[in-house]
Amino acid sequence: TVSELLSQHITPNSEVEIKGWVRTFRANRFIALNDGSTLNNIQCVVDFENFDEALLKRITTGAAIHIKGDLVESQGKGQSVEIQANFVDVLGDSDPETYPIQPKKHSFEFLRENAHLRTRTNTFSAVMRLRSALSFAIHKYFNENGFYYMHAPIITGSDAEGAGEMFRVTSLDSKKPPLNEAGEVDYSKDFFGKETNLTVSGQLEAETYAMSLGKVYTFGPTFRAENSNTSRHLAEFWMIEPEVAFMDLPGNMDLAEDFMKSVIKYVLENNKEDLEFLDKRLQDEDKKKPQAERSPMTLIEKLKFVTDNNFKRVSYTEAIDILRNSKPNKKKKFKYIIDEWGADLQSEHERYLVEKHFNCPVILFDYPANIKAFYMRLNDDGKTVRAMDILFPGIGEIVGGAQREERLDVLKEKMAAINIPEEELWWYLDLRKFGTAVHSGFGLGFERLVMFATGMSNIRDVIPFPRTPQNAEF
Ligand code: 4AD
Ligand code: MG
Repeated sequence: TVSELLSQHITPNSEVEIKGWVRTFRANRFIALNDGSTLNNIQCVVDFENFDEALLKRITTGAAIHIKGDLVESQGKGQSVEIQANFVDVLGDSDPETYPIQPKKHSFEFLRENAHLRTRTNTFSAVMRLRSALSFAIHKYFNENGFYYMHAPIITGSDAEGAGEMFRVTSLDSKKPPLNEAGEVDYSKDFFGKETNLTVSGQLEAETYAMSLGKVYTFGPTFRAENSNTSRHLAEFWMIEPEVAFMDLPGNMDLAEDFMKSVIKYVLENNKEDLEFLDKRLQDEDKKKPQAERSPMTLIEKLKFVTDNNFKRVSYTEAIDILRNSKPNKKKKFKYIIDEWGADLQSEHERYLVEKHFNCPVILFDYPANIKAFYMRLNDDGKTVRAMDILFPGIGEIVGGAQREERLDVLKEKMAAINIPEEELWWYLDLRKFGTAVHSGFGLGFERLVMFATGMSNIRDVIPFPRTPQNAEF
């Protein structure tokens, strides 16, 4: 690979061979070749006297080529070694007139429309290598800490969050679905014999495994039909959900903090080249902004800040007091004023707490019961639940979790209050009948972590093929 050729000390003049895609071909002599193994290109020097002109014409940006030659010390600036080519073959031509990825700056909007080719740019290849590394770091962390990886189902019969934001799954022939006498679709005659949907979270199933295997985590795709067209929401996103038996809310916070620090540390140590590239990109963008809007920290400084500092733990009630007494901007007001205890925080409040007031990652806990999901453990005050959200600078909510309601009677009451039929979750209630115990877990939105680690500001740019309202092109 190019990465090996550039990083290893290879004996001078040794024979090497490489396949990749042409980034540029300069002066009919210098090919910059990239194979995805690193941000850097290897320079391949072709002496045009030795090659057929027709062949050289086919060496265009985007073409796939095969080169053999000698790896030699480079005379030019910018690279330590280069290949002096003695064999060149074009494996796949690329018409320079129609190839969308030209050797120039493209807007992210344009590249989104060319999502199938955008990883041939430095920015997107760096982002996706980091995405891969983060994913590996997550598995590594759990593996080293005694967790089992559990695969939660994608098609489910329940609504894990009780929020009704689900995509329906059906095998129905849309031209003639089975109907009942009233002319409505009869799901009892459909493939599964009941209504099913794409999962919004693997948590409920993960709880069943925590209550037998002890420490488990899921890492899979989840789906939400929330029609929010923002830079932080996807209809299909990946979620990591650890779940641990006999662990309470403070234990859950400790786990989440240690886990987040560990995976960020991993990329700081193992993905320096890509991080430095993205950091420089952001600094260049920043220089174009007025002084007051510039970021006080570089990307790498932000990542190090997270690994080196404690997350601030604050109860919802304390946070509300802080927000009520704050003057967030020149107008001294939030757009959405929180005047009552019990209101849900909007992203402007979350960002104020993280970016202005505390200036560090924040864990908010003990939220009002009525703004959180039914499965959260009710506190003795009867009005708050043992929920926790982790807020990150520039991102807002990155993790949501809780200690789970382990008492059968309380859980049944909470389900009844929001009309979740017991028949739908009989298996979930069984956990509270047979050997119930305190247990907790959380969900990390993987793309929000990738956004934080790469400094990308739109969630559509950190997942290969984003799914958002009105958009499933690829
Ligand atoms: O806060 P949420 O909805 O929590 C759950 O789903 C729990 N069942 C997790 C658990 O306790 N096991 O989602 C968890 C995280 C959020 O904090 C956010 O980072 C991410 O998932 N998330 C989304 N990411 C991208 N697009 C969306 N539409 C998202 N919705 C949630
Ligand atoms: Mg949440």
